[in-house]
Amino acid sequence: MSIKRIGVITSGGDCGGLNAVIKGVARKAYDMGIESVVIPNGYAGLYNLIDMENVVLLNAERVSRIEASLAGSEAGHSRVKISKIDDPQKYERIKQGLKKFNIDGLIISGGDDTGSVVVDLSSQGIPCVHVPKTMDLDLQPYSVGGDSAINRIAVFGRDLKTTGMSHNRILIIEVFGRYVGHTAFRGGIGAEADCILIPEVPVDFDIVYEHMKTTYFARIERSDVRAGTYVIVVAEGLQNSSGEMLYDESAGVDAFGHKKLAGAGKYVRQQLEKRLKSDPDVEAFMKRTGMFVPGIYAIPEAREVTPGHLVRSGHSSAFDVNFGYKAGAAAVILLKDGKTGNTVSNVEGNKIMYMKTAEAIKRREVNIEELSLFEALGICFGRKPLQFKPEIIEENRSARSM
Ligand code: F6P
Repeated sequence: MSIKRIGVITSGGDCGGLNAVIKGVARKAYDMGIESVVIPNGYAGLYNLIDMENVVLLNAERVSRIEASLAGSEAGHSRVKISKIDDPQKYERIKQGLKKFNIDGLIISGGDDTGSVVVDLSSQGIPCVHVPKTMDLDLQPYSVGGDSAINRIAVFGRDLKTTGMSHNRILIIEVFGRYVGHTAFRGGIGAEADCILIPEVPVDFDIVYEHMKTTYFARIERSDVRAGTYVIVVAEGLQNSSGEMLYDESAGVDAFGHKKLAGAGKYVRQQLEKRLKSDPDVEAFMKRTGMFVPGIYAIPEAREVTPGHLVRSGHSSAFDVNFGYKAGAAAVILLKDGKTGNTVSNVEGNKIMYMKTAEAIKRREVNIEELSLFEALGICFGRKPLQFKPEIIEENRSARSM
């Protein structure tokens, strides 16, 4: 395919590793004698390209000013689904914008909604290749941003323990994760959380309460200074035992039409407090441990903390910088090779793997078989622990790169 100039778009929620994607695209394109430019602010910028006076050329000097280790995206973001724009001429308008700036193809980094637009644009005859991106990790291949978010959740969880221990509080950390709990799960394990609640497992709060009571009470009683905390990491898309997601109806919907989630942490706290108040063992525990103060401390305190956008801000993990660079560079090779409507799934050695974007954006949930392994290690997932039944398999393939 004759590609002389590529437009780079980042779309959906920002996260770690995106600047590495942009640099990977720009540097590989340069290496292949292709120019690359930024189309700013996601699909909003693509729709409005025709009205722009200029686009930023990613030449060597401009690229060197982008910090790959910083999260967020130098190209900017928006949540716009092109098919939903109320303009019958939208595809023509986009094509004219691309023509105005001599852009022959697009490299678009984003999640499932962004990917559905890649499929849409590709079917409209606009060459484009997708680089998987989402901190939620709910695409079929690995997506840039996941590792950074996991590491940040792990650090927040670990850091919060100092204040949790000082006040003997139960801490509930609510993290992003709309439909799947990959980042809550892996970040929670990284933080050595006591309990991890994810959308894939409808929660039984009596089980969470009993686990908390056994673990936290014993922790404080064992401590020579009567200190202890109990950490719960909960994904925002938590479901109750009836399988209902907990929405804050007042929060409204985002531009992709998804309900904004809020309140999982608060809900968990309320469920625990209700049980603490009605449990006859609690007053004796408070008295035994010297925590009871009439009229002030009748039950242990529980607090929810919501890091929100902090889990996808700040710095990118080294893994995401690596993946971003190679996936961005691979996307240029695929675009040049005419692989429009496809997603880079990995680069291993000299092999560039790709899959149809329509397949890549199918939701991938946490493999809950693995939870029982962690249940055997003492972690609560809000359900009755299941026995881990291992299948032991010898691998024959040669060593793979990451
Ligand atoms: O991009 C995914 C995500 O981080 C979700 O985990 C979260 O629900 C959502 O974005 C938040 O979106 P926004 O930044 O638009 O509030």
